[in-house]
Parts: sequence; structure tokens; C-alpha cells
Amino acid sequence: MMATVTSFALMDSLFAFNGIASKIKPLTDHWSIQLNEFCSDLRTDSITVVQWQEKIEELYAQIELEEILKFIQFEQLIKGFQYPDLGVATRKVTFPKLIGLPANTIYVKKIFGMKKDRAIIPHGHSNMASAHLILKGEMHLRHYEKIAQDEQHLLIKPSIDKIAKLGESSSISDEKDNIHWFIANSPTAFTFDVIMLDLNNKLYDIHNLDIYAAEDVKNGMLRVPMLDVGTALEKYGKHHH
Ligand SMILES: [Fe+2]
Repeated sequence: MMATVTSFALMDSLFAFNGIASKIKPLTDHWSIQLNEFCSDLRTDSITVVQWQEKIEELYAQIELEEILKFIQFEQLIKGFQYPDLGVATRKVTFPKLIGLPANTIYVKKIFGMKKDRAIIPHGHSNMASAHLILKGEMHLRHYEKIAQDEQHLLIKPSIDKIAKLGESSSISDEKDNIHWFIANSPTAFTFDVIMLDLNNKLYDIHNLDIYAAEDVKNGMLRVPMLDVGTALEKYGKHHH
């Protein structure tokens, strides 16, 4: 019974996007299957992590946001969503059943939601890649390149500073735009995240950064202390104007 309901919901979303039945693209073209392929290709090193970032962002640029919202059942997902006072809350996304799409994907997929002025606090990553699509609202988005790392600091360089609007996307990897920082700029804001963990056959790690304590180094680089998550949330979880 459940399966029937799910496939009807899916058909409904495909119909709504394509207008009429005869124009429905073969399901192998479905964005979720392409996404899955990019992640499998990264896992087997058939593509580089930067290619993975580019392919996902190109894919998102081609799809109507409405189609993604329906496919992940966004309205259902955010029913009763508990917005924390500091930082963000997440919910796991489950894709509807689709031929060619494994029930358990090799990537993590979640939505991240927050109230105005709350943040996905500034942090860098090791052995990880992730892509982020703005599903609702808008955010002040900053990225930095990771230049070097020691026990307690990251040496970083600003790469992106913009207002990310509905339907826009961003991504991180060890190679490109490694550090990110989102602050909600609308009453509520949500991202859809696709996350690849433990790349390079190593465990992933996250480094929360004290950007306000950054020390200017030559060539526009910043030497930034790392923070434990509690301290970082306290300082960056809610933006004070
Ligand atoms: Fe992140």
C-alpha cells in the first residue's frame, strides 16, 4: 500500500513538472539517479572531487526547484520542525522508490533548517565533500579555501561571499571551497545537503573555526584558531547585529 502511494506521489510530481505524460523523460534521466551516479563515480575515483562538485551544481542549476521539493517531500519533512535557538536542526531525507536508485544511498542526505540570524557555523572539513541547495529562504554564504592545517589552526583564504538565494547551490571538498559559513537572512531558511564521508580512505573530520579571532597573514590569508563545537555554537550559532 505504502509503495503505491509513494509511486503515485512521484508520478504526480513528474507530471506536474513535465506538463503532459508524453513528455516524461525516461526515469534514468531523473535527477536523483544522476546524483547517485556522481556519488558512485566519486567513490570509485572515476571522477575527481572537483568534478563531483561541478556536476552536482550543474545538475541543480538545470532542475526546477519545485521538482526537488516535491521529490523529497519537503512540506512533509518540515511539519513540526523544531528550530533551535542556536545553530541548525536537521532531518534525514528519504527518496521515493525509483528503479535504478538504491534504497540505501552511499551518501548522506539531509535538510538543514534554521531561523533568521542562526548559522551553520564556520567550519572546515577533511576527507569530505558536500553539496548544498537552498530550498527555502536566503542565506549569507561565505566560503574559504583551506591552504594549510596544523594542530590548532587552519590557514584559509576567502573565496565566496554572497547572498545565496532560493535554488542556488554551493559545495565543499578538500580541493575547493573547503570552509563554509551560512547565516539565515530570512524568517526561516533550509538547505538540502548531499554529503560524502570518509573520502581518500580516511575518516572524515570537521574543524569549527573562530573566524572573528582570525589573524591576517600575507596574501589575503587568514590564520584561524579551531574551536570545540560547544564554544563555536555559543559564539557563532546566533548572529548579533
Ligand atoms: Fe560543512
